Amino acid sequence: MFDLEEMIEKLSGKNFCIMDKTRGTELFVKKEESLESTNTALKFMAPEYPFNDFLLIAREQTGGRGRLGRSFQSPAGGIYMSLLLHPDMPAEDSLFLTTAAAVAVSESIEQVCGRQTGIKWVNDIFLGNQKICGILTEAKITMESKNPEYAVVGIGINVEAPEQGFTEDIKTVAGAIYEYGRAPEQVYEKLIANIVCNFYKYYNTINTRSFFDEYKRRSCLMGREVKVVDNIFNPGQYEIATVIDIDEKCHLIVKDQNGTVKSLSSGEVSIRLEN
Ligand code: BTN
Repeated sequence: MFDLEEMIEKLSGKNFCIMDKTRGTELFVKKEESLESTNTALKFMAPEYPFNDFLLIAREQTGGRGRLGRSFQSPAGGIYMSLLLHPDMPAEDSLFLTTAAAVAVSESIEQVCGRQTGIKWVNDIFLGNQKICGILTEAKITMESKNPEYAVVGIGINVEAPEQGFTEDIKTVAGAIYEYGRAPEQVYEKLIANIVCNFYKYYNTINTRSFFDEYKRRSCLMGREVKVVDNIFNPGQYEIATVIDIDEKCHLIVKDQNGTVKSLSSGEVSIRLEN
């Protein structure tokens, strides 16, 4: 575990180390003004840090990446952070890093900003009907080990809306925690520190799926009608289904219009909310 107050204070600086007292290892932290993508930069740096975890933070990204090859708009006013990890878990469980991070972000926004958010399976955080955060986990897999050599968990949060608002293509779905100019002092440092502390609480016990009850409780899809798109290159083709559960593998359990129950894995489908 990290000392939350120590981390908040240290985050006013640029480069520092902080001790994880549970693991007995140091987390390296680096803050940059602008990067193309914190995930891309950290994957490039990963070979230099085979044992230590590393947190890379940028105030803006010029080429932010999202899931399924999409781009992720990353203007100033957001938090763009990536965490380099060396997880002791099989590569096929990497999804649980994303779900644990989603719970950590949702909890942190509640603790720091007093706002209730919902997790839209599998990696989006919504405030009301607007997406305010996305998570992209990438892992390096080798033939030598069943565990990934490393994983990078990238988190992008719209803290404050951009001055000119979000661009036309995303303005109906994207939102921010605060309006432009309204983010309170130290909210960035507090959010980052809380996210890291909350995340490691689950990461240190990831093999027991300690995040799972909170993940399910914070899910905003339960009982709702969704569009299931099973070919992202053909989003016009979809099936309407009702979400009935999330199982322990974090598969989404839906009932289609014929009453057939299906288990959906995140790699296979994308979900759109029906109004
Ligand atoms: C998504 O919504 O599809 C996932 C978005 C993930 C964005 C974060 S921002 C920090 C990190 N760097 C990136 O280029 N992407 C992730």
